[in-house]
This record gives sequence, C-alpha cells and structure tokens, in this order.
Amino acid sequence: MRDIVIIGGGPGGYAAALYAHNFGLDVALIEKDTVGGTCLLRGCIPAKAWLHTAEVFHTVSHAGTFGVIAEPPRVDWGAALARKQSVVDRLVGGLAGLLKQRNVEIIDGFGRLVDGGVEVTFDDGSTSVVEARHTVIATGSVPRSIPGYDFDGHRIVSSDHALDWESQPDRVAIIGAGAIGCEFASLLADMGSEVHLFEMLDQVVPGMEPEAARVLNRALKKKGVAVRTGVGVGPAEISDSGVRVPFGDDAVEVDVVLVAVGRAPATEGIGLEGTPVEVERGFIHVDPATMLTGRPGTYAVGDVVAGVPQLAHAGFAEGIAAVTHIATGTTRPVMYSAIPLVVYTSPEVGAVGLTEQQARDAGYEVEVTKHGMGGVGRAIIQDDTGGTVKLVAEKDGPLLGATVAGPGAGEMIHELMYAVGWEALPSEAAAFVHAHPTVSEAIGETLLAASGTPLH
Ligand code: NAI
Repeated sequence: MRDIVIIGGGPGGYAAALYAHNFGLDVALIEKDTVGGTCLLRGCIPAKAWLHTAEVFHTVSHAGTFGVIAEPPRVDWGAALARKQSVVDRLVGGLAGLLKQRNVEIIDGFGRLVDGGVEVTFDDGSTSVVEARHTVIATGSVPRSIPGYDFDGHRIVSSDHALDWESQPDRVAIIGAGAIGCEFASLLADMGSEVHLFEMLDQVVPGMEPEAARVLNRALKKKGVAVRTGVGVGPAEISDSGVRVPFGDDAVEVDVVLVAVGRAPATEGIGLEGTPVEVERGFIHVDPATMLTGRPGTYAVGDVVAGVPQLAHAGFAEGIAAVTHIATGTTRPVMYSAIPLVVYTSPEVGAVGLTEQQARDAGYEVEVTKHGMGGVGRAIIQDDTGGTVKLVAEKDGPLLGATVAGPGAGEMIHELMYAVGWEALPSEAAAFVHAHPTVSEAIGETLLAASGTPLH
C-alpha cells in the first residue's frame, strides 16, 4: 500500500511526487507517455525555445540599429527544431533522474481510479491495481478545436503539431489570440512567415488589461501580422494548394491553420463517473485550500482543476498544496491572488492580481496609474520603448493588480507579484529604489506616481 499514487507526470503530478520526499512518503507516479507533461513536452519549454530562436533572429536582423554590421541572417529551421528538442530532452532527462533519486516509482501506463487505488492499463492491454491511501489526479489538458477545424496534423493543427513543424510555413492563419495564438504569431512573424491572427473577442489577449493588449497589437502589426479582432471565422475549406479561412464576406488563403482556442481537461476514461468527484465540463471541482475533491483521499491538481488558471506554475503550487495536506493534515493554499501570468511574445506581457475591470467588478473603488516606457533610458538603449506599466490599487489602499508590457516584462512582473501578494501600499513599494539604468525603473516611476509624488 503506497502513501500516494499520482495519475499524470506533468508539472502538477511531478511537483506532488517530488515534494512528497520532504515527508518521507512512498509515491508511485503513473504516466502513459514520458514524464514532463504539456509544459516540458508540448508547451512552455518547447514554445519558449522557438520564441528564443525568433528573438535571436530578430536581434541579428536589427543589429545595424546598434552599430553592428551583420550579414542578413537566415533561419535554419532544422537546426532550430533540433535545438528545441535538445532543450526538451535535457529537461525531461533531468526530471526523470530527479524522480528516481527521490525514489518515486514511475509506472508506464494509463491510470483509472478504482476503490482502494488506481488501476493501470499497460500497452499490452493487461492491467494491475496500485493500492494507495491517497490519489492525486494530474492528467492535464489537450488542445481543443472549433467546428469546421478538425485537427489533421497537416492543414489544421494544434500547438502540439506546430512545435514540431519540420519546415517553416509560408502562410499561417491562427485562430484565437490568447497566450498560445499570440506567442506563435509573434515568433512566426519575427521569422518571416505571413501570419493572419483571428480573435473572436475585441482585443488580443482578452482578459488582460486593454493597455497591454494595445502594446501587443501594435507590436504584432509592426511585425506584419494581420490582426483581426472581433471576428469569427467560417469553416475551413481545404484544397490541394492550402486552406481557405472565410470571415465575414472575405477570406484568406494559407498553407496551414493553427487553432489556439483553449485547452480541454483530460479527464475522460479515468474513472470519475459514479464517484463523488464533482466534474463540470470535464473540469474537477476541489477545495482550494487543500485541492481535495469530493471523494475522500482523492485530490486534483493542474489543468484539470475547475476555475483556476491553466499554468504550469499554478500546477506546481497545487501539487505542493495537495501533498502538504496529505502529509500534515494542515493547509498551504495556493495564493491564486498573486499568480503571475506571462505571455512570452516580443515584447512580453506580464500580469499579476486583478485587472482594473476585475477590481471594479469585485466592488473596489480603484485608483489606476499608468506609465509609458518612452522616456526610460534602458528601453531607449534597447530601441524598445513601446511598453507600458499599469497599476491598480484600492483607493487609499493596497495594490490589487499590475500589468507590464515591454522588454523583460516576464521577469519584471515578479517584483509586483510580491507587492500585490503582500498587499503593499503603493507608497510602501515606492520607498524602494530601482537601479539605474534599468527597464524596471518604469515600475518605480509608476509606484511614485501612484503614491501621488511622481518624479519624471
Ligand atoms: P486561451 O483561452 O488563452 O485563448 C483562446 C482564445 O481563443 C481566446 O482569446 C478566445 O476568445 C479565442 N477564441 C475562442 N474561440 C474562437 C473562435 N471561434 N474564433 C476566434 N477566436 C476564438 O487559450 P490558449 O491560448 O489556447 O491557451 C490555452 C491555455 O494554456 C490557457 O489557459 C493559457 O493561459 C495557457 N497558456 C499559457 C501560456 C503562458 O502563460 N505563457 C502559454 C500558452 C498557453
């Protein structure tokens, strides 16, 4: 009898497995593929590897701006693909080694909840039950599509396929301008593909601050992306020469369509039917303090959890919360109010806490402060001044949320993570001095302005 059996070896599942070591718990991890999950194998890591290649290409292409003469660069797609894979393999190998070192038993197969534990179905069809006192469901998510756009891996693809394209597509339509759609639009346009980006709602990265969306929209357009917001698409028309994507009275003809309209929880066939686990459209409801489902001893973490962001780092924190409760009976809830979200486009967008709209909807009287990067020395040096900082605070009260769009926003947002998480007053955060010259100074300036004492 194990202490814990975990179904799924992505960030939620493997974090739970690794963390259990702190309490000397005996853990088995069931995985039908390779450990690493969406993040390492088909998400964050390979996507960021491609985005970094695009960034290097863009930097070299614009070297002349900085007085550096470089031959016009070319993309060696095969070499970039190989490098992406070597980064993935290195991290997957490291993770497998760490799990082994922590004495986590990895069982290759498909897991399904049964009384007393989890039944594993192996590749040859045989089954066996792993008995355990506690179960953690961490089965993750899969790309979903829309009617008229069934994935065929060739003309209609998901991000899973796009990360492994063997050659650069000339013309791409991307449906959905969330994190995945915008990241692919940014990297493909930077590397010279023709990109059409379609978003049903009225801005790119819906849900994020409109000021940040405008920065990103402008940057994407400058790269040559045809951004169409507030536009729905008709069913794809596939021919020998490509795909026609109709919208309104118009249409575009492309080589491939990347559908990025969200991810569905992967909870089918894992034995939830007839159990007290509460499931809604495939997502699992949990007690957010413990990650416990409605079934005693059964927890859920990661992309399967209802009502929380589908982010690798949220999964890590949820794995820790679940194991803490299993091992100690006490709670270590995930601080969802201060989980940073980063979109790794060029430029990046980072956000934490509430947007202005969310704060107003929650009933706060808010004070908003914005500061552009046009006068920030380091941004001018980097020739990247289109960014902005936006702070949302309760009137005469603490910071509730923050958004940064611009160079390095994905790193900079973490200082605001602490400020929002610790409910700092703008004046308390403004008392700290930022190094000069840095892009982060834009945050210092915004905090000073939010305290009623702007400097520049
Ligand atoms: P998403 O939910 O972030 O965005 C999907 C977008 O598609 C939305 O803007 C939606 O309005 C739009 N859409 C839906 N149906 C449409 C239609 N028929 N026509 C046009 N637009 C349509 O989902 P996405 O980008 O696929 O990402 C999936 C999950 O993975 C998200 O939770 C996301 O936050 C996460 N993720 C996070 C990343 C990051 O933190 N950097 C990177 C990639 C994914």
